[in-house]
Amino acid sequence: MLLIRNVTLVDALGERGPADVLIGEGRILSLSGGEAERILDGKGLLLAPGFLDLHAHLREPGQEVKEDLASGLLAAVRGGYTDVVSMPNTTPPVDTPEAVRALRKKAQALGLARLHPAAALTQGQEGKALTEAGLLKEAGASLLTDDGHTNEDAGILAAGLLQASAFGLPVAVHAEDASLRRGGVMNDGSLADLLGLPGNPKEAEAARIARDLEVLRYAVRRSQKKPHLHIQHLSTKRGLELVREAKRAGLPVTAEATPHHLTLTEEALRSFDPLFKVAPPLRTPEDLEALIEGLLEGTLDAIATDHAPHTQAEKEMDLLRAPFGIPSLEVAFPLLYTELHLKRGFPLKRLVELFTDGPRNILGLKPIHLEEGAEASLVLLDPKERPVEPRNFASKARFSPWAGWVLGGWPVLTLVEGRVVYQALE
Ligand code: DOR
Repeated sequence: MLLIRNVTLVDALGERGPADVLIGEGRILSLSGGEAERILDGKGLLLAPGFLDLHAHLREPGQEVKEDLASGLLAAVRGGYTDVVSMPNTTPPVDTPEAVRALRKKAQALGLARLHPAAALTQGQEGKALTEAGLLKEAGASLLTDDGHTNEDAGILAAGLLQASAFGLPVAVHAEDASLRRGGVMNDGSLADLLGLPGNPKEAEAARIARDLEVLRYAVRRSQKKPHLHIQHLSTKRGLELVREAKRAGLPVTAEATPHHLTLTEEALRSFDPLFKVAPPLRTPEDLEALIEGLLEGTLDAIATDHAPHTQAEKEMDLLRAPFGIPSLEVAFPLLYTELHLKRGFPLKRLVELFTDGPRNILGLKPIHLEEGAEASLVLLDPKERPVEPRNFASKARFSPWAGWVLGGWPVLTLVEGRVVYQALE
């Protein structure tokens, strides 16, 4: 039994307490204390449901030089995540039931965050032939996606949505039109022109979202079951407007935004530092403001990291050659707690919802609220501020665009079904 005394509770229902939270048998047994072998002083700390990340590149199998399940899932629990969806753009791509089972088995043995592998929508993520949605679901796949690649063939996406809907699987898309995006390494516009860098226009995202929403409309019309389209790492104001309109029209679409698109803009590229090279690219302050509005009003359903580790050597190449991606599992919550909640007054309740119920709903998982009987998959957060120190990351990617930023809201204890999977209590 573990007792956390005097702790403030925060979940999608709101902020309350302080409470004396008794945890045992994998559950919250009481909010008003009780006998326990271990007692923690929770004064000044926040207790929240464990976070779920819908979008992490854990690089296993085949790219373990960048990350593996052990380092990635340790990074996750250090970031307060109890549940992680791994992306299938590995080597080879995760496109068979056997590959999904192997990942789940290995993750279970690690006993860190729970893994919900995403599987490829198309074989080899080549965009040509669909994978077996039913068998993948049976093996434990949480959603289907060709993320890392764009879905250029609308017919394949339509067939994929129809097939996935029969098994209750969401289809997640990296919505960029490849022919408009071309070789862009940053947001297209006057800054890219000034810096002499190839631009990736915001219209590449908006055009693809518009198309995918029409494909969804078609799938809805032709399917007996409800298809579910999920837009990954939405980065533009126009893309957001399209999703808002589609939601108002009742289309079954959800969307996520990333920590980097919510805290950084294209201005960072003035440094020519590949740390800031990501796909889709960092956009303008106007886009960033629209995304925050989208989080508030519910057009965006979740904050997902798009944790994308690469080797130091790769990220030290020049901007044109370095790979796209920003690792963020260990800083996502403190970053948004500080930059959105503390600095801008973004409601804490909604912020926590975007890390918990929001993504859980997308996967069809039951929400976790801090009540008696609830599953004790929880995170204890410390508002005390300290700087981001990438050299201390558990992730193999020990670099960060937020290095040195002073943040509060750091996870100090993460529990999965009552089991301590991470602790950094003084
Ligand atoms: O920046 C990105 N990195 N965007 C993606 O879509 C893929 C990801 C990766 O796998 O590195």
